[in-house]
Amino acid sequence: MDLSLTGKKAIISGANRGIGLTIAHHYAAEGIELALLGRNEKGLADAAAEVRARQPGVRVVTAVVDLEQPQTIKPAADAAVAQLGGVDILVNCAGGAYRGRLAEIPDDMWERYFKVKPLGLLRMTRELLPQLKESAQGRVINISGTRGREPESHSMMSGPINFGTLSVTKAMANELGPFGITVNAICPGSTRTRRFTELVEITARERNLSLEKAEQWLLQEVPLGKVIEPEDIADLAVFLASARSRLISGTAINVDGGRTRSI
Ligand SMILES: NC(=O)c1ccc[n+]([C@@H]2O[C@H](COP(=O)([O-])OP(=O)(O)OC[C@H]3O[C@@H](n4cnc5c(N)ncnc54)[C@H](OP(=O)(O)O)[C@@H]3O)[C@@H](O)[C@H]2O)c1
Repeated sequence: MDLSLTGKKAIISGANRGIGLTIAHHYAAEGIELALLGRNEKGLADAAAEVRARQPGVRVVTAVVDLEQPQTIKPAADAAVAQLGGVDILVNCAGGAYRGRLAEIPDDMWERYFKVKPLGLLRMTRELLPQLKESAQGRVINISGTRGREPESHSMMSGPINFGTLSVTKAMANELGPFGITVNAICPGSTRTRRFTELVEITARERNLSLEKAEQWLLQEVPLGKVIEPEDIADLAVFLASARSRLISGTAINVDGGRTRSI
């Protein structure tokens, strides 16, 4: 399938590890030029070197941003655009959530995490609007999460943060459609990144299980019975960036092994 991605330019936030870094590897394999954004300069340099090592010849640049610090967003967006010479695809992947139930999450944590997602992704997208509008294949891909659709009390913060991301995705799709830009969200279920490893460890401690049994316990409600791998998310991020998804916009797609119960 011709995905028409060779030579496109992508900016990915949260690209120094986890899902963001895996998307970077998949994009590089398609010949996409990359700007990796994150708050850790050394981590970004290492990630860029890793991507170049797997795909020699693909241009990979970096720019430091801390989405909790709004004043860092425009300089990072400008630096990425200046180095790449434009942008066609923006993947807003940076984020996370403080673990805990209602009474366990301090106020400042709500504010910190909301500044990253959805507020940070909204600010980043706003900074890049002129370049995205110039692109012949403008794409915005927001990494949300299934908890945005089905909140859980034990992971209280994941609900509103990811729900807000879905709402922003839909509104941006409405606004940017007339400029030929598609805006979509991907909703990962529990995906094997640092966060998942922590969840397995917590579950093992709380339920007095081995790590292997704890992972199996977490998979009980996943019909396909497998942990989502970052590659599963990255495959969809490639398709949503491609010319083949040209009329898909304003939607959110779960990658969760069928776990989400709602339709
Ligand atoms: N893994 C899952 O099970 C899961 C499930 C649902 C949704 N998601 C979503 O998928 C996305 C990626 O998650 P992941 O599992 O790959 O997580 P991860 O391994 O923890 O990576 C999170 C990334 O976000 C970056 N980040 C965090 N705060 C930032 C800030 N203030 N400014 C700039 N960058 C920041 C991190 O940078 P540092 O290295 O500097 O911390 C890191 O690169 C997140 O939006 C997450 O909510 C993940």
